[in-house]
Amino acid sequence: MNFDTLIVNGTVATATDTYAADVAISGGKVVAIGTDLPRGNCKQVLDAKGKYVLPGGIDVHTHLDMPFGGTRSADDFETGTRAAAFGGTTTLIDFAIQYKGQTLRTAFDDWMSKAQGRAITDYAFHCIITDLPDAQLEEMPALVREGVSSFKLFMAYPGVFMLDDGSIFKAMRQAAKHGAMICMHAENGGAIDVLVQQALAEGKTAPKYHALTRPTTAEAEAVSRAIALAEMAGSPVYIVHLSSNDALEKVREARDRGLPVYAETCPQYLYLSLEDMEGPGFEGAKYVFTPPLREKWHQEKLWNGLKHDHLQVVSTDHCPFCFKEQKELGRNDFTKIPNGGPGVEHRYSLIYSGGVAAGRFSVNRFVELVATTPAKIFGLYPRKGTIAIGSDADIVIFDANREHTISAKTHHMRVDYSMFEGMKVKGTPDIVLSRGRMLVNGDKFDGKPGSGEFIKRSTFNLV
Ligand code: URP
Ligand code: ZN
Ligand code: ZN
Repeated sequence: MNFDTLIVNGTVATATDTYAADVAISGGKVVAIGTDLPRGNCKQVLDAKGKYVLPGGIDVHTHLDMPFGGTRSADDFETGTRAAAFGGTTTLIDFAIQYKGQTLRTAFDDWMSKAQGRAITDYAFHCIITDLPDAQLEEMPALVREGVSSFKLFMAYPGVFMLDDGSIFKAMRQAAKHGAMICMHAENGGAIDVLVQQALAEGKTAPKYHALTRPTTAEAEAVSRAIALAEMAGSPVYIVHLSSNDALEKVREARDRGLPVYAETCPQYLYLSLEDMEGPGFEGAKYVFTPPLREKWHQEKLWNGLKHDHLQVVSTDHCPFCFKEQKELGRNDFTKIPNGGPGVEHRYSLIYSGGVAAGRFSVNRFVELVATTPAKIFGLYPRKGTIAIGSDADIVIFDANREHTISAKTHHMRVDYSMFEGMKVKGTPDIVLSRGRMLVNGDKFDGKPGSGEFIKRSTFNLV
């Protein structure tokens, strides 16, 4: 056999198994898995001795090249996917925004034109719906047929992104009918707005008031309402960027009742807390994102939720804004700080380090959280999210013993700070392949802008 690439001597880990095997790749796909596969005239042999051979990461929550609060997220599809690749992520699902008065098709076309010719990793889109007259409700199935099989709705940001409960319910019924997933930003925007106006009137303008005006109860209430609406509509619901134990309890109760309710959390909620917002001067602005950081005790509850499948996915909500030029917009008023933080590069290592290396869960659970379950929930499986014959050869050769210290000085995201500055992590991607092509080899970048492909996702099937 003449394989394009043969990975030898490694330990393959999937969501279910860990075993010693060689992995052969041809035409961008995994074509054989076994011991002592013939080397023949392989174009390339990669030695993974002492390392894991893992599925490429799938980050289902990024905002590249996204207009927000009078500015634009700092990574575009080239710089963002390059940073993702360095961190072991080979597919991401970004959000195409439909602004008021627009068709959903316009959102899809706009985001396609941002990504095509630039993206280095493969990509797909969710569509954010901010306006749902009947014509747009009727448009939803067409997008699903074209591979945009999930829609994000907001219960927060009144006047900007927020949808009323009636529209949410209509979208959920349409999703149920056509096999789409509803992703929900669950915070009670109306109540939060009252707290925000009160804080401003009292002269409370520092970054930490962003967090103090968005209580965990506002998140839990919205999660509970989203679940109730989805139950009435007969649709699945996926809670994005879940940040608190209060919200987690609502998800756990719904899952215990057997409802198709899913939730993700993000590394920032597992590693950072309210205390980080109290740094000197304007430092707290680095951590202004939504939902906000919580008291420290929530972190262990979230880790525990990941372990016990009360939470199914870790995404990043990567939405970077430079500290010096962009976060600065809100120096005198926390409501003007662009909401979002950078993270697409460090999810794999942070979750391996805090999850597996710290003894909280197995390498198989890690793979499930960062690759397999995201692929299953969002219609990418089995093409992506696992190592199996016929799957895309999106593979990370991962050195579980290599430590590194996260820093803005060495990261690849186009942003001037790191939320995890100085944090030491155990476990680092050595080699990253996308459909068999080398993207990253050690510290060297080997990818090409534009080589990433749009992936048409299938409809939702119960996970
Ligand atoms: O603060 C955040 N999370 N910015 C991105 C938009 C969103 O709500 O996900
Ligand atoms: Zn959101
Ligand atoms: Zn987001």
